[in-house]
Amino acid sequence: MAAALFSFRATALAALLLAVIAACGARAQQQPTNASDSQERSLLSYSGGWIPAKATWYGAPTGAGPDDNGGACGFKHTNQYPFSSMTSCGNEPIFKDGKGCGSCYQIRCLKSNHPACSGVPQTVVITDMNYYPVAKYHFDLSGTAFGSMANYGLNDKLRHAGIIDMQFRRVPCNFPGLTINFVVQHGSNPMYLAVLVEFEDKDGDVVQVDIMQHNSGHWEPMHESWGSIWRIDPNRPLKGPYSLRITNESGKQLVAKNIIPDNYIPNTNYRSYVQY
Ligand SMILES: *[C@@H]1O[C@H](CO)[C@@H](O)[C@H](O)[C@H]1NC(C)=O
Ligand SMILES: *[C@@H]1O[C@H](CO)[C@@H](O)[C@H](O)[C@H]1NC(C)=O
Repeated sequence: MAAALFSFRATALAALLLAVIAACGARAQQQPTNASDSQERSLLSYSGGWIPAKATWYGAPTGAGPDDNGGACGFKHTNQYPFSSMTSCGNEPIFKDGKGCGSCYQIRCLKSNHPACSGVPQTVVITDMNYYPVAKYHFDLSGTAFGSMANYGLNDKLRHAGIIDMQFRRVPCNFPGLTINFVVQHGSNPMYLAVLVEFEDKDGDVVQVDIMQHNSGHWEPMHESWGSIWRIDPNRPLKGPYSLRITNESGKQLVAKNIIPDNYIPNTNYRSYVQY
C-alpha cells in the first residue's frame, strides 16, 4: 500500500499537504462532498470530458511506484509490459475499494498547471491505492507516469513540483497481444482458492467472477477478496479442473474452460484464450 511506503520525500510532501489542508479546512467542509452526477457518469463512460484532479507521485523517480513493483491491487511486475511503470494509486472514487483495479485513465497537465507540462495525454492503469485526503480526485502516480506529463527533457523538473493540478478521463484499456490472465495466489488449497484476474481490455476490471468445479455444470460465485483477487472458501474441499467465468460492467461474460488444473501450483500464471 502506498501509505506504508512513504519515503522521506513523501513525508515532507505530506507535511506540506497537511499545512495546506489545515489552511483550507473550514472552507472545504462547506463544499458538497458528493461528486456531481455528470462527473460520476463520465468516470464510468468513455466519452466524458476532462475532470480536474490533483497529482502527486511516489517511489523512485523513474519507477513503477512501490519498490517491489506491486501495489494494493495485487498485480506484480508493474514495471514490465503491459503496465510498463505507467501506473497510479487511486483515491476512493478511482480505486473503488479494489473495483477500480486495472482500469485505465488518460492524464494530462497543462502549461497553466506547471510550465513543464506538455498537455499531451498519457495513459495510466490503476494498480494501487492512496486514500490520503488530498482532493476529490487524486492520482498518486508512479514517478514515471508523473514525469510523462512533461515536455521532452523536463520530466525531472515536473517531478520536482511534487504536487500539481491535472486532468483525467476514463479510457478503455487496450493490452495488445495479451489475453486475460489468472494467477493462483499463494496459500490456495482445497478449502480456499484465490485467483488474481488481470489484463482485461476495455473496462480493465470485472464485476463478477464465477467458478465451475470439474465440469459439474454448476457455476458458483467467487467473492472479491482484495484488489483484483477473487476467492472461494467453501465448506467442503474443491475439486478441479476449474473453469472461470468473468463478467464485465456491461454484463458480457467470458468463459475460460478448465483454465486451472486440479494440481495447480500457487503463484503460477494460467493464461486464458479469452479477451474482451
Ligand atoms: C448527496 O447524494 C445524496 C444521494 O444521492 C443526496 O440525497 C444528497 O442531497 C447529496 N448531497 C449533496 C450535498 O449534493
Ligand atoms: C464488455 O465486453 C464487451 C465485449 O467485448 C465490450 O463490447 C464492452 O465494451 C465491455 N463493456 C465494458 C463496460 O467494458
